[in-house]
Amino acid sequence: MSTHIGAEPGEIAPVVLMPGDPLRARWIAETFLEDARCYSEVRGMLGYTGTWRGRRVSVQGSGMGQPSLAIYANELFREYGVESIVRVGSCGALTDRLAVRDIVLASGACTDSSMNRIRFEGLDYAPVADFGLLHRAYEAARTRAGGADVHVGLLLSSDSFYSPRPELTARMVEYGVLAVEMEASALYTLAAGHGRKALAVCTVSDHIVTGEETTAAEREKTFGAMVDIALEAALG
Ligand code: HPA
Repeated sequence: MSTHIGAEPGEIAPVVLMPGDPLRARWIAETFLEDARCYSEVRGMLGYTGTWRGRRVSVQGSGMGQPSLAIYANELFREYGVESIVRVGSCGALTDRLAVRDIVLASGACTDSSMNRIRFEGLDYAPVADFGLLHRAYEAARTRAGGADVHVGLLLSSDSFYSPRPELTARMVEYGVLAVEMEASALYTLAAGHGRKALAVCTVSDHIVTGEETTAAEREKTFGAMVDIALEAALG
């Protein structure tokens, strides 16, 4: 067992899908995996291992925000030898180039978090996706996006869901950021620091510009398309 994950060594596969919501982890395991078995319920942050097309894969909830994700990503990389983590989550669109239900493959992730500022002592590190995962996700999205448009570009990983400084988010958009979420930047940085691979795939659940939101049924449908893409990218 690690501090926050109740799995024995070997119980977690080298490839992990990581939704923020632990109940999504259960839904992915029950919907997409065969022989899925829950390996951790610590703090309700569910984790499962099963197989997909005969290959072992795990699904681990991360919770919301970079500090929470960093706990699970650190322990997966350090204690369980995980090689690849693909975040599957939601994001808010920041530009009218995106519509709700679109899928964003995050080539990189900017952040307003202090986590990297502390880690790099004031230097600005550029957290980017693993190119192999990104390339395979893009290829998979051609057939598996379920009708949703797919964008490759930058996310803003914010520490605040309710932004205290929307004018700074607007500046990020001027520099090409497509959407806001709360986890990818820490994931990319930790993967790089451990010499491992990471990718964030996010569906647009709400539109900050137009105010449009998805229904629960729509979210489930696009979430399924995104999991297909993530599994193909990681294992296909
Ligand atoms: N902000 C931050 N994270 C998010 C959002 C948002 O609007 N939508 C989905 N994840």
